[in-house]
Amino acid sequence: MCFCANLPVGVRHNGSTPVPRLLDTLHRPLRSLRVSVTDRCNLRCAYCMPELDYTWLPRHDLLTFEELGRLVDVFTGLGVDRVRLTGGEPLLRKDLPAFVAQLAARPAITDLAITTNGVLLADLAQPLRDAGLHRVTVSLDSLRRDRFERLARFDELDRVRAGIDRAREVFGHLKLDTVVMRGTNDDELVDLLEYGRGVGAEVRFIEYMDVGGATQWRPAAVVSRREMLDGLERHYGPITPLAEDSAAPAERFCLPDGLVFGLISSTTAPFCARCDRARLTADGLWLLCLYATRGLDLRGPLRAGASDDALRDLIAQQWEARADRGAEVRLESVDRKAWIAADTLRANRHLEMHTRGG
Ligand code: GTP
Ligand code: 5AD
Ligand code: SF4
Repeated sequence: MCFCANLPVGVRHNGSTPVPRLLDTLHRPLRSLRVSVTDRCNLRCAYCMPELDYTWLPRHDLLTFEELGRLVDVFTGLGVDRVRLTGGEPLLRKDLPAFVAQLAARPAITDLAITTNGVLLADLAQPLRDAGLHRVTVSLDSLRRDRFERLARFDELDRVRAGIDRAREVFGHLKLDTVVMRGTNDDELVDLLEYGRGVGAEVRFIEYMDVGGATQWRPAAVVSRREMLDGLERHYGPITPLAEDSAAPAERFCLPDGLVFGLISSTTAPFCARCDRARLTADGLWLLCLYATRGLDLRGPLRAGASDDALRDLIAQQWEARADRGAEVRLESVDRKAWIAADTLRANRHLEMHTRGG
């Protein structure tokens, strides 16, 4: 992916039609949209869905691909050029390659990616590539079968690994995301990096975040960026940061032998000041921040026949008023513990990470 912050204001990096650049109150542009295509999931990762029961969004509230596509067009008209499909588990959404094909045909989208848990990826990698998907990121938190099952509640490691192998063959490159939790998988960093090296994937270690849904979160379970770097340096020797100027959450580093990996330190060193992303839930709620407690309902106006111009005005107004810096605000809180209790989440599914997309 190329980064184009130095291009003149309002010009896309693929040279297509210029769009007005929309800035929020902290001068952050709207560039990246994460579209959740379903809130359902076929795993129950401990950092995201640790409870026993979940109720899903009503099916009739889910936006059709046509509705989602229309909203995406309104967003690209306002400067979005990166789209990431998320869930829940996005591969559970029926006919996903058809939606990918719709999006891939839009020249305004220069980066089209997906974040998946990989369970269904072995069969879907080729159809997704054929449909025009650019990039895949697979979540992988352990290489040990018993531990994977304990962490994700299903014995699916073999299928995930098969999905990773297939995606690597089909796409030629991929990323692996690992949420690191103390006492759970923090002794596997080297194994995961070496596995990534073997399959040709860039591994990113993510600090455990106190997002909605992480009802078991506690400060002691967070392994900080600093600790991860120290541990890896003890094993590999000096690690060099790569000098990159980007709005992406991951900082990238290089081992002495040249292997590149990423760290996402949203808990101890949030990237809110550069955050150019927003999220759309599968039922059309637009969220300006991972930690937003309210969003803008776009399904209502969409289904009531609002014009593209009306939708654009609604969205532009909200972005221009945006002051969200959720992860930084969490960092300032004293006596930090799990952000939202399980019963509050049950009463408001939109607060869940699996509804707003990982
Ligand atoms: P790239 O374009 O490949 O850099 O994608 P990405 O890193 O944006 O996407 P990915 O889905 O791999 O996100 C990785 C992790 O970063 C997520 O799982 C979250 O833990 C964290 N993250 C993503 N978006 C946000 C966000 O808006 N705010 C915060 N604080 N963390 C985020
Ligand atoms: N902390 C950090 N990342 C999380 N994700 C979900 N919950 C959390 C959390 N509590 C991210 C992970 C996962 C993706 C789908 O969402 O990266 O792989
Ligand atoms: Fe795990 Fe993603 Fe499912 Fe959450 S949505 S339980 S992170 S696979």
